Amino acid sequence: MTDPRPVLVLDFGAQYAQLIARRVRECHVYSEIVPFDVSLAELEVRRPAGLILSGGPASVYAPGAPAIDPGLFSLGIPVLGICYGQQAMSRALGGRVERTGLREYGRTTLAVDEPGVLLADLPSEETVWMSHSDTVTAAPPGFLVTARTASTPVAAMEDPRRGLFGVQFHPEVAHTPRGLDVMKRFLYEACGLLPEWTPAGVIERAVERIRLQVGDAHALCALSGGVDSAVAALLVYKAIGKTLTCVFVDTGLLREGEAEQVVDTFADHLHVPLIHVQRSEQFLARLAGVTDPERKRRIIGELFIRVFEEVARDAGPEPRFLVQGTLYPDVIESGSRTAAKIKSHHNVGGLPADMELELVEPLRDLFKDEVRKVGEELGLPEEIVWRQPFPGPGLAVRIVGEVTSERLGTVRAADRIVQEEVRRAGLAPELWQAFAVLLSVQSVGVMGDGRTYENPVVIRAVTSEDAMTADWARLPYEVLERMGSRIVAEVPGVNRVAYDISSKPPATIEWE
Ligand code: XMP
Repeated sequence: MTDPRPVLVLDFGAQYAQLIARRVRECHVYSEIVPFDVSLAELEVRRPAGLILSGGPASVYAPGAPAIDPGLFSLGIPVLGICYGQQAMSRALGGRVERTGLREYGRTTLAVDEPGVLLADLPSEETVWMSHSDTVTAAPPGFLVTARTASTPVAAMEDPRRGLFGVQFHPEVAHTPRGLDVMKRFLYEACGLLPEWTPAGVIERAVERIRLQVGDAHALCALSGGVDSAVAALLVYKAIGKTLTCVFVDTGLLREGEAEQVVDTFADHLHVPLIHVQRSEQFLARLAGVTDPERKRRIIGELFIRVFEEVARDAGPEPRFLVQGTLYPDVIESGSRTAAKIKSHHNVGGLPADMELELVEPLRDLFKDEVRKVGEELGLPEEIVWRQPFPGPGLAVRIVGEVTSERLGTVRAADRIVQEEVRRAGLAPELWQAFAVLLSVQSVGVMGDGRTYENPVVIRAVTSEDAMTADWARLPYEVLERMGSRIVAEVPGVNRVAYDISSKPPATIEWE
């Protein structure tokens, strides 16, 4: 199977570029992000099927504003400029871009005067999302203006003969309800692409690549219970079968039922050989008396690696490869597709430092939602596919203060109630994470006839796009009420429940 010709998104402002690339993938077309100043020579080598110039925060007239090599428009590759991308395209090709003083922000009515190639699926009036101060006031020679808004005379323009298109609005955001229809016209009509980027295709391609890379060497994979490592492991298993050894180090710091679920799913259901090592006592012993969050992380990370190495050494033939669930956003953030930089934060315990293993990263090209679709296609159960992000150091960073077996039991029981109530209310898809935190302060309460002096549990539920920022979730009072009364009634040692109403920043999602 040959690799698909990509649609390359030229990045003029990272947050916009990622969203565009994700939307292109939602149209089942493969896309990648490249810097805005990618050289023409590189473009000729990559042979993209189309180019999309992203939006960005700069003004085309600001000193040092990212500019486009005009040669880009005569490569014979279809180009769609979005917002800043349209302005930069206009400027490069002889149009006029001005600061009219009419700043447009938010939902705006687009009047479609000419359906042309790009807007053919839109009605004559449609809501779109705008966010700009500069405006294209005259399209470059050869372009047809196809739409306008009250304050933007060139809200969309095109020169289909040269394969050049521009829109001032943002088709990639959810606030432009028909945005995907515009992107599909560009991809399918202008670029002549077919919707061929599907989970089944992704799997087939990944399996082929893994076989090429690993051959008949041995590979190791650490399962964490999360979706990324599970999907990575399954892809590699599909490619190389029993020369893959999956190791699941049970730190005892997982949530209720999680360890059993990993074992059931992999060993019993999917029949992937799994080495399950139960080390909760060892982890607890090393954590005794430790209260500093970063020390907890270090201890857990280091011990995890030691256990993993020890198991791997005893597991049979010496492995040459280590499977890692690195995702495309990690690759973008580390700055280069070739940099094998792995953030320890994203892994259970970081890479074994002195094991000289080559990396197999079957998810390097995928966004999280694609990983989930691939997981579904591979037969992973819903509970793993849709699992919330969970920190590598596990419940240890959700117990403020010392981690003991008893306190683990307390936070685990409270967390189960939070999970159950979130699920019962059907809120899981809206939440980034929801969990319980156990504090070490004590407060007075009264239960039955007696005075209690016990710990509080804090419920934390947040919405977020990417965990960089987050807002506290406005959970319905009834849901909070059920969580609160159940936790106090069912979890011994807890006499008070609080709800965390801090956003990130200034707080973080986790308490430690
Ligand atoms: P914070 O608390 O920094 O969390 O707002 C952001 C996201 O990262 C997760 N998190 C971790 N993940 N190891 C991990 O693998 C860690 O040490 C860790 N600390 C926080 C957190 O759950 C949230 O999704």
